[in-house]
Amino acid sequence: MLTSDQVKEEIQVPDSWQHRHLLGLEHLTAQEIELILDYADKLQEATHQGRRKLDLLKGRTVANLFFENSTRTRNSFSLAAKRLGADTVEFSSSGSSVAKGETLIDTAKTIEAMLVDAVVVRHSSPGTPHLLSRSLNCSVINAGDGPHEHPTQGLLDILTIRRRRGSLRGLTVALVGDIAHSRTARSNIWGLLKLGAHVIVCGPATLVSKNWEKLGVEVAYDLDKILPRCDVLNLLRIQFERQAIRPFPSVHEYTLLYAMNQERLRRSKPEILIMAPGPINRGVELTPEVADGPQSVILDQVTNGIAIRMAVLFLLLGRAGHASS
Ligand code: CP
Repeated sequence: MLTSDQVKEEIQVPDSWQHRHLLGLEHLTAQEIELILDYADKLQEATHQGRRKLDLLKGRTVANLFFENSTRTRNSFSLAAKRLGADTVEFSSSGSSVAKGETLIDTAKTIEAMLVDAVVVRHSSPGTPHLLSRSLNCSVINAGDGPHEHPTQGLLDILTIRRRRGSLRGLTVALVGDIAHSRTARSNIWGLLKLGAHVIVCGPATLVSKNWEKLGVEVAYDLDKILPRCDVLNLLRIQFERQAIRPFPSVHEYTLLYAMNQERLRRSKPEILIMAPGPINRGVELTPEVADGPQSVILDQVTNGIAIRMAVLFLLLGRAGHASS
């Protein structure tokens, strides 16, 4: 087992990493994405799968600034920061002075004035993290901005596939469901394409526009036709809360056409990986037998999320001489 001093000597922020913020995967290179995945592996090993705390970020403070609900992202950022020795500040818009009319920028600047080194922000408006990155002096990490991007979700999904399959190159990955409202879909698409996967987006025409082809993905409307070719299915939640009009006649009809169930599993590759970013609508995107079955890696995704978030926090804040804003 490496001592803390050996870990500090062996795990350092490389010169090739030059970003202050993580706003999305669209503008990262394949090498930068691979670097984050490599650091996730290193840090997971160095923390003994979370059983040991390191002090790589001792003296740094990470603020979670959540204007939308979260279970996985928020708690795993918090755990990741603590496992690297950082302090955390937890902010939720509900119960905060936002209810008294405080603006987003004033709220963020107030939290930053508590001498935080990074703000992890989730907001329903696309571009919120980009706006904050121009208004604050600290690092900004996008934890989901409306339907735009959710970069650490994309990274943890990709890490989960890489850990199971070794490489993304040549794999066929289908993102199924509510592509239109999914920030997870966008981050997955950018990351998967850069790492050499073939990406299919599949769902009802009201949720999957042909325009997605412009990003370099295949668009499909018939899950049963594409199923035999898929190495990975990532089943995206139907985001009822972002839909003004129901995009299909009934949940029952959606389930008949797109839900992953035992019968569809029998027609899939035997080694197919079943993923879902969560939360899932059990019985809508997939049946409980599939969600809890042997091909499902849904809980691995959650565990891998801590490793990815440790890697992101370390790469942004771990350089020697990093100073609070
Ligand atoms: N996948 C995801 O972002 O989950 P939470 O909303 O629970 O953070």
